[in-house]
Amino acid sequence: MSYFLVFLVSFLLGSIPFGYIVGRIKGVDVRKYGSGNIGATNVSRVLGKKYGALVLFLDALKGALPVLILKYSGFSAELQVFSGLSAILGHCFSPFLSFRGGKGVATGLGAFLVISPKITLLAFTVFLIVFFTTRYVSLSSITAALSYPVLYKILDKPSELSFIFVSLSSLVIVLKHYSNIKRLLKGEEKKYV
Ligand code: G3P
Repeated sequence: MSYFLVFLVSFLLGSIPFGYIVGRIKGVDVRKYGSGNIGATNVSRVLGKKYGALVLFLDALKGALPVLILKYSGFSAELQVFSGLSAILGHCFSPFLSFRGGKGVATGLGAFLVISPKITLLAFTVFLIVFFTTRYVSLSSITAALSYPVLYKILDKPSELSFIFVSLSSLVIVLKHYSNIKRLLKGEEKKYV
């Protein structure tokens, strides 16, 4: 299967802005409230935890689905990781939202849970440790995203190409948190309650 086709399908699936859609169904543009993000954390902040959990599930699902298809059709690990990266890019730069979007955490979680459950659970443990220590979802996401390529390299011993795609996924997620990083540095980031 060509990389282009995988990119197209995964990117388009990833670009479905579930947080925005759920918000609209509830009569709210989540981009105008809280952090302004369309992700599960902000939906939870604006509409409540039930809707946050729904968006987390849907955003993870759209990342997991194309990778699942590739994995169980026997395609290479490289193509699976490329699919995950493409879905994250779709979520972060959605054509349905003028190429703006979310931060890729839940979509990455779904995709990478299929690619490497062991590493994803370890990175999720990092997330939980930082979260229960600080109550900052953004800092927890950033730390988990940064730990992923390191854990992946050491424990999964991937090919160079897979490692590059994983590192790019991590980089996109961290860069999309630039406004959170600014708030964290100024001590203005909101804790999750
Ligand atoms: O997944 C996004 C999360 O890490 C931060 O969300 O709404 O606090 O910017 P938010």
